[in-house]
Amino acid sequence: MILIGFMGAGKTTVAQTLSKSLNIPCYDLDKEIIKKIQMPLSDYFDKYGETQFRQLEHQFLLKYYSIPGVISTGGGCIENYANRAILKETSNVIYLKSNFETLHHRINNDKMSLRPIAKNRTTEELKALYMKRLIYYETCATYTIDTDTLNTQEVSDRIIAMI
Ligand code: S3P
Repeated sequence: MILIGFMGAGKTTVAQTLSKSLNIPCYDLDKEIIKKIQMPLSDYFDKYGETQFRQLEHQFLLKYYSIPGVISTGGGCIENYANRAILKETSNVIYLKSNFETLHHRINNDKMSLRPIAKNRTTEELKALYMKRLIYYETCATYTIDTDTLNTQEVSDRIIAMI
């Protein structure tokens, strides 16, 4: 199964919980990319730019999307047309949906340097990005879970009950 959603949606932690509960492997595409590039994503963005990162992200989605297990994607994975095409044809794509205020709060509480997409944007710009991406997440998802009032374990339990 593949988890999608905006930054701060909890994709990584939910993937880890699902992996333990279902005893299946877990792959975090950002972490796999970091292993390959051997630098923080923010350094990669500064050095090579977003377009190059999206190409790399596409290669990693291609490599992992059909592997059995739980795959957590980066929030911008759905920016790429080819990635959306892959996700639309894949079963068990789960969108962890939250309202912007919840996500923004979580993003602000994280180390901003870890989030190259958030660090140079104003709240208004980040909200515009969120609004733009909503339709992409929705059209790519097999299932959508509203996570605003749920903790990680509850989200994971809902997913297990759904699939
Ligand atoms: C990005 C989200 C990040 C990471 C990269 C770009 C985005 O992943 O892939 O910084 O464009 O939203 P998370 O959603 O895990 O923060």
